[in-house]
Amino acid sequence: MALRQDNDLYHTLVNNKWVGSESGETVKIYSPDDHELAGSVPALSQEEVDRAIRQTADVQENWEAAEGHERSELLHRWAEELEKMTDEIGYMIHREVGKTLSSGKSEVKRTAQLIRHTAEEGLRTHGSFIQGDAFPGASKSTKAMVQKVPHGVVLAISPYNYPVNLAASKIAPALITGNTVVFKPATQGAVSGLMMVEALVNAGLPEGVLNVVTGRGSVIGDFVVTHPKVDMITFTGGTDTGQHIAKKASMIPVVLELGGKDPAIVLDDADLDKTAKEIVSGALSYSGQRCTAIKRVMVVDSVADELVAKLKEKVAALKVGRSSEDADITPMIDQKSADYVTSLIDDAKSKGAVVVHEGQQEKNLLGPTVLDSVTEDMRVAWEEQFGPVLPIMRISNEFEAVDLEKRNAYGLQASIFTKNLENAFALSDKLNVGTVQVNGKTSRGPDHFPFLGVKNSGQGVQGIGRSIDSMLRDKVLVLNL
Ligand code: G3P
Repeated sequence: MALRQDNDLYHTLVNNKWVGSESGETVKIYSPDDHELAGSVPALSQEEVDRAIRQTADVQENWEAAEGHERSELLHRWAEELEKMTDEIGYMIHREVGKTLSSGKSEVKRTAQLIRHTAEEGLRTHGSFIQGDAFPGASKSTKAMVQKVPHGVVLAISPYNYPVNLAASKIAPALITGNTVVFKPATQGAVSGLMMVEALVNAGLPEGVLNVVTGRGSVIGDFVVTHPKVDMITFTGGTDTGQHIAKKASMIPVVLELGGKDPAIVLDDADLDKTAKEIVSGALSYSGQRCTAIKRVMVVDSVADELVAKLKEKVAALKVGRSSEDADITPMIDQKSADYVTSLIDDAKSKGAVVVHEGQQEKNLLGPTVLDSVTEDMRVAWEEQFGPVLPIMRISNEFEAVDLEKRNAYGLQASIFTKNLENAFALSDKLNVGTVQVNGKTSRGPDHFPFLGVKNSGQGVQGIGRSIDSMLRDKVLVLNL
């Protein structure tokens, strides 16, 4: 059997076999762009998922025993096979999640680079050797050898907004460190994820080392997260789901990349042209559907009018339309998400926000909206919009920004725009976030940088090297000579 069947039905991968669900049930995936069917994937039952996970666990010891360079060579071949499929996977990303074709293709290329970097970095994980006499009462005859060993079976759960890159950013580190993987893609983006896995099969994936479980979250969601054979969970997605997973996961380690309310803090000496460009791109690319998107601007009064005028001009020039028309602002992932953003805008307007530029809504296509003079009583000041709305809060100084951030439930990233690096460093020290960008938009890349969120934005650290670390644990061998 192959990955793709007729009429856009795709199989999932279990033990290197492309299979449908035993019930024949499927989950249909419709394009956010034209609402046409993009594909459908098997809706597995809990029993089928149980078998897939157990088969992954059965082969884990063999995979761990494989030579590190063999695992690395598999990843290099995977990157090569993936690059060969750039056009078809890029197109499927475009269809499934409403990215433009060019951004779909660039996601595939970025992922091949991530896999190659992981293949190399993963060869350089080392343990340590500790002499006992460093501690009173112990002697040199007691020595510890600390090894880094894989957890076992890693459950990788990826989001819709990077169905290939954020899947591989979990799968590649897991594989290079000797873990086996159960991959649960978001439904929207599942076919793109399966095509990425097809490249891995073509690269020589050993049977059962990675199995893919597709289906309804309501049926298999909690089941996979609480499965006794899962030894570690790495998840990217919404905060509510992440917190639910953390509670359900109980005793096993989890890495969570969740939501954000990243501020762009603009000080009076900022380069406003560059700042406006970074804010528009950071807040509105992929229609703001990024956890690291700029979610609110905090600008000191002295330059607020000038910045708002620049933002208005740039936003007004954005093309709104379908991703198939290469528009700047494309349809959101679904109607519910678009309606939610509109509710935030309506709430802000009803409480006195100044509409600088108002986007129109047509089903799930929502034009960009810029709201000035946003105040703390407005929902959009605090809730994660995950959509094309840019709230601007006017502040008298950076201490106000620090205070607003302290009361922000999220702590993913923050951007500071100023020419004075000393001020940037001083302000950065006061912000309780994972990453502070200076004179740049909030974003995850480059992929080898540590990437983390605190508070409701996540747990654990990603970024290639740190993702590799998260897939390993210490194992101590004490020699009593
Ligand atoms: O929303 C997922 C988050 O990882 C965004 O990544 O690369 O767009 O900053 P990026």
